[in-house]
Amino acid sequence: MASHLNSIPIVFFAFSLLVSLAFAGNFHNDFDITWGDGRGKILNNGQLLTLTLDKTSGSGFQSRNEYLFGKIDMQLKLVPGNSAGTVTAYYLSSQGPTHDEIDFEFLGNLSGDPYTLHTNVFSQGKGGREQQFHLWFDPTADFHTYSILWNPQRIIFSVDNTPIREFKNAESVGVAYPKNQAMRIYSSLWNADDWATRGGLIKTDWSKAPFTASYRNFNAKACIWSSGRSSCNSNAPSNNAWLNEELDATSQQRLQWVQKNYMIYNYCTDAKRFPQGYPPECAIH
Ligand SMILES: *[C@@H]1O[C@H](CO)[C@@H](O)[C@H](O)[C@H]1NC(C)=O
Repeated sequence: MASHLNSIPIVFFAFSLLVSLAFAGNFHNDFDITWGDGRGKILNNGQLLTLTLDKTSGSGFQSRNEYLFGKIDMQLKLVPGNSAGTVTAYYLSSQGPTHDEIDFEFLGNLSGDPYTLHTNVFSQGKGGREQQFHLWFDPTADFHTYSILWNPQRIIFSVDNTPIREFKNAESVGVAYPKNQAMRIYSSLWNADDWATRGGLIKTDWSKAPFTASYRNFNAKACIWSSGRSSCNSNAPSNNAWLNEELDATSQQRLQWVQKNYMIYNYCTDAKRFPQGYPPECAIH
């Protein structure tokens, strides 16, 4: 009897180890560098990925898997110093003219000026749902975790486990929701000095090139889409809790704190842009 009880934690430990081995990422297994002619690199036995940008080209990578819903974490350390004009995009996207997309874009800035974190959600090819933020820390000094929770009810963008944006399923008011098209993870570092920093006023300082952004600790709890079917990591029901996850009261408060103190643009309050009234999803809380 005693030995039976003793074995429970051991079994549990072995099980957790299996789960984390299965899903802690290795960049060699999970991603391909897709462009940049050697400017993107997978290092440290697959534990680190770096993208660089110089005057000739940027670089990018994409996931091997396609996902239909998931909770996806990645740690990023952004281009330090004078990153004005550079954009680091990290996003999920399907393909084709009516594609779905969930975007994080980091717009660089002059040394000491804050990055802008730009977010957007496209469904069936329609975007235009921008929210932008400043961050409450220097995103170039260290790695921070940027997460996308995407389940049938909601999309939650989080930074270091603090939710910054929630996009709810608003099909009830006629707004298409991303739920039928599998998406890959993409990231790229490129030059966008025609618009990125203060609306294109500040140009990339090429004397500071090459610019480098770094990635580590990719982690996905997700449903993987393959050969026309989706399979979720369903080893244990608790492992799939994210499929029904919603914000609890504490997370709601954190979200409100970010939106009140760090949000610098919200399409849902841009009256000039929507003189005929806001998009219907703006009324869904
Ligand atoms: C850059 O810094 C300025 C000044 O603080 C700020 O208004 C702007 O939002 C920052 N981000 C970008 C991408 O321009």
